[in-house]
Amino acid sequence: MIADQPDRPIDILLWGASGFTGKLVAEYLTRVASGTDLRWILGGRSRKKLERVRKELSAIDADTANPDIRVADAQDWQSLEALVDGVKVVCTTVGPYALYGDALIDICARKGVHYCDLTGETPWMRHTIAVYNDVARDSGARLVHTCGFDSIPSDIGVHVLQQHALQTLGMPCEEIAYLVTKMRGGFSGGTVASILTRADNSTETRRVISDPYSLNPPGVQPGPDASDQRGVGYESALGTYTAPFMMAGINTRVVRRTNALLGYPYGRDFSYRESIATGSGPVGFMAALAITGAMAGFFGALAVKPLRRLLANKVLPKPGEGPSREKREAGGFTIKLVGFINGMPRVQCTVVGTEDPGAGETSKMFGESALCLALDGDKLPWPGGGVLTPAACMGSVLVERLRAAGMTFEAESWS
Ligand SMILES: NC(=O)c1ccc[n+]([C@@H]2O[C@H](COP(=O)([O-])OP(=O)(O)OC[C@H]3O[C@@H](n4cnc5c(N)ncnc54)[C@H](OP(=O)(O)O)[C@@H]3O)[C@@H](O)[C@H]2O)c1
Repeated sequence: MIADQPDRPIDILLWGASGFTGKLVAEYLTRVASGTDLRWILGGRSRKKLERVRKELSAIDADTANPDIRVADAQDWQSLEALVDGVKVVCTTVGPYALYGDALIDICARKGVHYCDLTGETPWMRHTIAVYNDVARDSGARLVHTCGFDSIPSDIGVHVLQQHALQTLGMPCEEIAYLVTKMRGGFSGGTVASILTRADNSTETRRVISDPYSLNPPGVQPGPDASDQRGVGYESALGTYTAPFMMAGINTRVVRRTNALLGYPYGRDFSYRESIATGSGPVGFMAALAITGAMAGFFGALAVKPLRRLLANKVLPKPGEGPSREKREAGGFTIKLVGFINGMPRVQCTVVGTEDPGAGETSKMFGESALCLALDGDKLPWPGGGVLTPAACMGSVLVERLRAAGMTFEAESWS
């Protein structure tokens, strides 16, 4: 901690540090910052809560975990202007972002402050692209959404797989299937709040959610992909039944935006899909059917107001809540990305996270994204500002950080 250098810019402001995910990110940054000169601070709307968080952090690192505190409210522009003063990167867990995110991203876009978040709200991202992309391009602010479980394993996994295809086959894969082969974890209250916010939407919002190219730059030609998988599927080349994956509607749009932002390095006809692999034979089929039914039941219940209220009040975690430490540490995920050329599998990439995807691994991916924006600016592949994706903005620089932090991104030939 650099308490005696008040004029030095603050590398990272963690905004929302009193929330469930914010506290995990604060713990992550405390561990990473220990013994370094990283200058980072805590932000939120309640000084009292932030002081409690700071006290808990001192149990991790008694010598240096003494970050400064800044207080502001997400709806109070003046307090937010002061919040980001002298800050290089704002890393925010204050969500649902469609409710609380507009003023902060507006200020960052105008002031040239880099920004990352954990939103998975595609209508809100489409809105920020429309309103802030050009402002951020002019100011140099790198604004990066989806820096957690949605959508880093997808966006960075595809980046790693396509790099491998280019190096070994001399061409990118025309088609990539992302298959979740193992996943254990829970939801935090903020994620539930975001899902509930999305459930209550207009016809226009539903149209944006179902558009497979909703995050592509306005006016560019879409590609060959149609709607996301809704029922039981079968990957014939891989011999596995598949079920719909809840995050596909977010991740696929992010991967397609990366391709468009970078000038189509994956090809203009690149096709991308995500699902859960359930295995072969009758057992695989029944598992896919069960997951499909459970998802349809869950979203069907959310569409009915009284059931939604019941789920929110009695069943699902509330803001500030989430999986326990034991559950987080027992969680994890394995994802296999398979790349096809002429319909044949040619390369594969395995992505592994060793903790609960939406909590432990998300705090790692998010913390590393913020560090990457703060410390690796000169090395980043994206030269300026804009509303960006993790892979377009940080690419291989972020891959190296995530590997060093314990995640696996391993590409190889198909076997
Ligand atoms: N991409 C992923 O994989 C992933 C994973 C996990 C979470 N998320 C997303 O991350 C976000 C946070 O989730 P969470 O579970 O950590 O939520 P949470 O526990 O409810 O935390 C929300 C934070 O926002 C703060 N906040 C709320 N209203 C505010 C306001 N008006 N002004 C300033 N601060 C305000 C809260 O402050 P108080 O403590 O004072 O209430 C708290 O610090 C959600 O949008 C969620 O969807 C994404």
